[in-house]
Amino acid sequence: MFMEGERLRAEFGEETVADLSIGQPLEAPQSVVDAFAAASRERFVGRFGYMPNLGYPDVRERAAEDVSFSGITSECIAMTPGAAAAIAVAIRTFVDPGDDVIGVAPYFPEFRLYCETASARFVPVATGPDLRLDLDAISGALSSHTAAVLVNSPCNPSGHVLDGGELSGLAAVLEAHNDRHDRKVLLIIDEVYRRLTYPPHERVEPFNLYENTVLARSFSKDLGVAGERIGYLVLHPSLANAETHRGLAQALRALGFVNAPATAQRALLHLDSWEINAVPYRERRDMVMDRVRADGIEAIEPAGGLYLWLRSPWADTLQLIEALTERRVLLTPGIAFGVPSHIRLCFSAPRRKLEMAMAVLGELAAGQISPA
Ligand SMILES: Cc1ncc(COP(=O)(O)O)c(C=O)c1O
Repeated sequence: MFMEGERLRAEFGEETVADLSIGQPLEAPQSVVDAFAAASRERFVGRFGYMPNLGYPDVRERAAEDVSFSGITSECIAMTPGAAAAIAVAIRTFVDPGDDVIGVAPYFPEFRLYCETASARFVPVATGPDLRLDLDAISGALSSHTAAVLVNSPCNPSGHVLDGGELSGLAAVLEAHNDRHDRKVLLIIDEVYRRLTYPPHERVEPFNLYENTVLARSFSKDLGVAGERIGYLVLHPSLANAETHRGLAQALRALGFVNAPATAQRALLHLDSWEINAVPYRERRDMVMDRVRADGIEAIEPAGGLYLWLRSPWADTLQLIEALTERRVLLTPGIAFGVPSHIRLCFSAPRRKLEMAMAVLGELAAGQISPA
């Protein structure tokens, strides 16, 4: 989709294409631009050299302060090149070749790649129609081969935010499974979009509910610095020991990351706060949601994240994506997320692009565009 967007922009001009297919964040705020500029000017001995694999100690300390759970120290933090690396490194550290990792469909497509490149099997389990975890199905998928369960909240693509009931239910299912087996399943929670959780929904602290948990975090989306590759992995304090540190350091090296980029790490220290203003995202969520409601297209209001997850009005979703692409509106087919009945629209785009896309979706809903 990325390449198709480039092609259409080159052929017809930037302004004529509404590319809502990838999760491009809004532009970075000026404070973030200034922090990167200040970090690039910083000098100390070894500024451009190797560093400890898990990151600068002062940056790890600052990241530890960003986790509101007692007992979290810098020992619980590994700085990584984005959440992608945090998840891939967690899998390499805690999952053995031949193990299973249970995911939840719809899922971020790269979850499968992180598992398969670690010679682990990705086992998707569908959510209920309300996008909530299907705890019975997860329980049924757990086996003696299961090393980890990987969930994403707020979810890309569905916008679902796990609530306390779901997380405590999942913890109970995992504890019951652990009691019958001689290993503890790791819970990996991808929190890339946690600062984009829209009230009245709110984040629930998973560490309070299940010990054997790690959190994958990133600044890609909320600070708008996806290209700068910076994030971090948080270990529950019970996992922060020398053996885990060795595993994480080796995984960072084996995967070729070695350490998170130095300038991006230093930039985090130049920011007074890591909080963001989520209002521009929420306003876009409201705008696209109002439009699909008015048009009668089926969607559940996203509780967080950047995406609207729509039931495809056509049975052949790929044909629909093609028809939209012909009208220079680029969305992503649900099959990429393991759910072929749906399509995904990224709403973190300029309003005029959202208007263009919503106008075409309106024509579609009104039957003015129909399958060939
Ligand atoms: C659910 C999810 N996890 C992980 C990532 C990767 O994020 P990062 O850029 O921080 O590696 C993305 C990026 O789109 C995502 O949507």
